Amino acid sequence: MIYLGCDHGGFALKEAIRAHLEKQGLAYVDCGNTQFDSEDDFTSFVTPVVHGVLNDGDNRGILVCGTGIGVSIAANHHVGIRAALVHSVDYARLAREHNDANVLCLGGRYMDTPVALTAVDIFLDTPMNPDPKYRRRMALASGDK
Ligand code: RB5
Repeated sequence: MIYLGCDHGGFALKEAIRAHLEKQGLAYVDCGNTQFDSEDDFTSFVTPVVHGVLNDGDNRGILVCGTGIGVSIAANHHVGIRAALVHSVDYARLAREHNDANVLCLGGRYMDTPVALTAVDIFLDTPMNPDPKYRRRMALASGDK
């Protein structure tokens, strides 16, 4: 399952991503915001996405705020979340291959929609590189001994 979340800065891009997933028949949960509200706080939408992702190892999250910075900081507070702030299709691929990212964070005010949609596809389709060095590094990055 794919969990989506955004604030006002990411609302337009989140809606484009939602339509993109819908078109492909991919199952998702829209954790909001489901309407544009210039006063909403991105933190309200990070928590339900994080809980959805932590429910099952195969679940994925996509969070969009103005820059992607706020949502990535908030998501990475949670143990088990590996949220990657992604600016390009290459970043999306590497976030999966090297970092096993389970949450994709995007900046709605700074990313072109076609690039963002391709980044979403790559994020959803790319497995982690099986070389154990990447798993080791992510264990160290997560504070595991
Ligand atoms: C909201 O104006 C903006 O600060 C927010 O969307 C995000 O970019 C924060 O990191």
